[in-house]
Amino acid sequence: MLRRTLLALSRSEQLKRAVATLPVSSSVVARYVPGEATEDAVSAAADLVKQGLAVSLDHLGEDTLDRAQADAAVAAYVEVLAALSDAGLTPNAEVSVKLSAVGQALPGDGDRIALDNARRICQAAANAGTVVTLDMEDHTTTDSTLRILGRLRPDFPDTGAVLQSYLKRTEGDCRDLAYAGSRVRLCKGAYNEPASVAFQDKHEVDLSYVRCLKVLMQGKGYPMVASHDPRLIAIAARLAEENGRAAGDFEYQMLFGIRPNEQQRLADDGHTVRVYMPYGVEWYGYLMRRLAERPANVAFFVRSLLSKR
Ligand code: FDA
Repeated sequence: MLRRTLLALSRSEQLKRAVATLPVSSSVVARYVPGEATEDAVSAAADLVKQGLAVSLDHLGEDTLDRAQADAAVAAYVEVLAALSDAGLTPNAEVSVKLSAVGQALPGDGDRIALDNARRICQAAANAGTVVTLDMEDHTTTDSTLRILGRLRPDFPDTGAVLQSYLKRTEGDCRDLAYAGSRVRLCKGAYNEPASVAFQDKHEVDLSYVRCLKVLMQGKGYPMVASHDPRLIAIAARLAEENGRAAGDFEYQMLFGIRPNEQQRLADDGHTVRVYMPYGVEWYGYLMRRLAERPANVAFFVRSLLSKR
């Protein structure tokens, strides 16, 4: 119930304005977002790479409303990719892109605009010696995102996909994408989805995650296990072993600020661990999705807002 309320509020422009202008928000946000500027992101990425971790940077922004905003998002990616390359952080650092940030939702030819813009980012990533992963958003965008992925891969075969185990369709999508060279990040899913398309029960989402992971681990692609769930991490290790996958044949992924000790432990064991690191001023929707995942965080958030008023 609380999760649904928070996810609904993540779309509230009114609350967004209120939270974003509160100076205190920075202390709450800082746990999940290392900074707003390109330099903040590059410096935080450098710290993680020094610790033996890999990184995927996400320039925050979604639900882009016009072409200018989409172009600005592309420019931000081009800038950060050049900065990562200059700092010697590629290929350890890659980028994650939300297609809604680069025009997918624009009326008329949103798909084409998003494809053209994603192509520009993929080219900038290739020039910088790294790759792009396309984040997955709510279920109304899944077909379009997979279509765009299919159009990008002939030219940029390393472009990563994201699939969400809460969607009932995902086991089939895993089968379609488990081919040689295909990078697939599997996560549980972070949006408010109806029962017609998504499992509602946490346990069912976990069971689906295991079924999907089995398909990816048995397949020929490169699975990216995006979860902080200790049980799923243990199952991933077992499935990798059963399928003869060594440390470099799959990777773990976690969000910046969540279970950092576990991130380090897995990396120290020789695994590739990629930290998803969002940065930028548009942190509101991302923060609300993280709060929705953990009721304890909501109490912390409300307390810090009230204490600084
Ligand atoms: P679960 O939510 O069950 O959490 C397991 C444990 O992790 C918790 O008990 C707690 O210890 C810790 N934890 C989890 N969330 C926390 C939080 N917010 N604060 C503190 N502790 C927390 N989703 C999506 O829809 N599209 C996408 O493209 C992506 N991309 C993505 C990339 C990466 C690298 C990750 C790790 C995740 C995503 N996600 C995503 C988000 C994902 O769908 C999911 O919402 C979160 O990862 C939480 O799910 P867990 O698998 O961690 O399990």
